[in-house]
Amino acid sequence: MAHNIPSEHRALVLEKVGSPFEVKLLSTPQPTSGSALVRIEAASVLSYHGEIYGGVRSYTFPTPLVGGYSAIGRIASVGPDATTLQAGQLIYVDCVIHARDNPDIQFLSALHDSSHEGSVKLMRDVWRNGNFAEYANVPLENCYALNETRLCTELGYHIRDLAHISFLMVAYGGLRDIRLEPGETIVVCPATGNFGGAGVQVALAMGARVIAMGRNETELARLREFSLEGSPTANIEIVKITGDEKIDTATLKSFGTIDAVLDFTPPQGLKSTHLRSATSALRRNGRVSMMGFSDSPVVPWTMVANNIKLMGKLMYERADIIQFVKMLESGLFSRGKNFVDTKTFRLEDWNSAFQVAAEHMGIGRHVVLEP
Ligand SMILES: NC(=O)c1ccc[n+]([C@@H]2O[C@H](COP(=O)([O-])OP(=O)(O)OC[C@H]3O[C@@H](n4cnc5c(N)ncnc54)[C@H](OP(=O)(O)O)[C@@H]3O)[C@@H](O)[C@H]2O)c1
Repeated sequence: MAHNIPSEHRALVLEKVGSPFEVKLLSTPQPTSGSALVRIEAASVLSYHGEIYGGVRSYTFPTPLVGGYSAIGRIASVGPDATTLQAGQLIYVDCVIHARDNPDIQFLSALHDSSHEGSVKLMRDVWRNGNFAEYANVPLENCYALNETRLCTELGYHIRDLAHISFLMVAYGGLRDIRLEPGETIVVCPATGNFGGAGVQVALAMGARVIAMGRNETELARLREFSLEGSPTANIEIVKITGDEKIDTATLKSFGTIDAVLDFTPPQGLKSTHLRSATSALRRNGRVSMMGFSDSPVVPWTMVANNIKLMGKLMYERADIIQFVKMLESGLFSRGKNFVDTKTFRLEDWNSAFQVAAEHMGIGRHVVLEP
């Protein structure tokens, strides 16, 4: 082990669902073939992390475990089979872990075991701990090199702000899956949450016109202002969800041709009709990326009559990450506060971090733990 890597490190450990996290000293793992030891710089916090670990959302995962989601880190050391990654390299640490002998088996690091026999085993026995720690042992293929000079020096991104990739990336996975094209019009709904806001940011960066739907008019107005501050020519419209399916469909149709929909309805919005309104407003052959939860996403006959393509999407593919990093490094996104306003917390302040994350929501807002 390299001399500057401590034999023990601090990590946020959850003993069982519903218990408070504790900062514990864990022994620092040695990277073996197929893994890298990563010094975590900024670990993203979800608006609903508290609900997951508190048992309010019934995500399944083994305990005890170190919490987390995706993160930005630096390679501390690599296993003997690494060919390109080197100590000191800035990386995006991705939370989607795939089985190496079956890429169709995957799970979300420190969040969800995906309930498949293979993924449950892999999470329990091999890749159990997440990124809420000073060091994390990460599959080599989950380490994505970032060009630090380009991103941090030339484009001026702060390392902690780069952790916002973990939200943008998810939206990009859905948008790329439905092949959003520059110049197309897409409805993002609801757009006022973290992932919805990320959907607006990414769709605009991809050159689309965005119609952002939400219940909260104040937040919608902020979303519009944020988008225009980042790019005065941003093609952004906002629509309030009234709860009346027909009225909302008519309002959307008044904007002209709509090519696509990106949906991030949370479980508590299962019965909301906004997605049905959006899919009913689509042109013939319109596409929908359904990344959230909706009981009744389409009017059946409208879907058939208009050849609507309804595509579910969990997260993204490896190729999406590589493509997304190219977009970011090429300068397609806004910078500074027009990219993201990040609030930072230490590991011991995890409870405040979770509480603030549940409120510091929406476009361009993000909370990280800096271990
Ligand atoms: N497929 C995937 O890979 C993937 C990845 C990440 C997340 N997700 C899902 O996406 C969901 C949204 O994530 P998020 O981070 O944006 O959540 P969030 O930050 O908690 O925001 C929730 C959003 O849903 C809206 N909402 C809440 N209750 C609603 C209702 N009854 N009717 C209509 N809108 C309602 C909120 O609007 P208000 O401001 O009006 O409350 C807000 O826009 C998550 O719950 C998660 O399940 C899926």
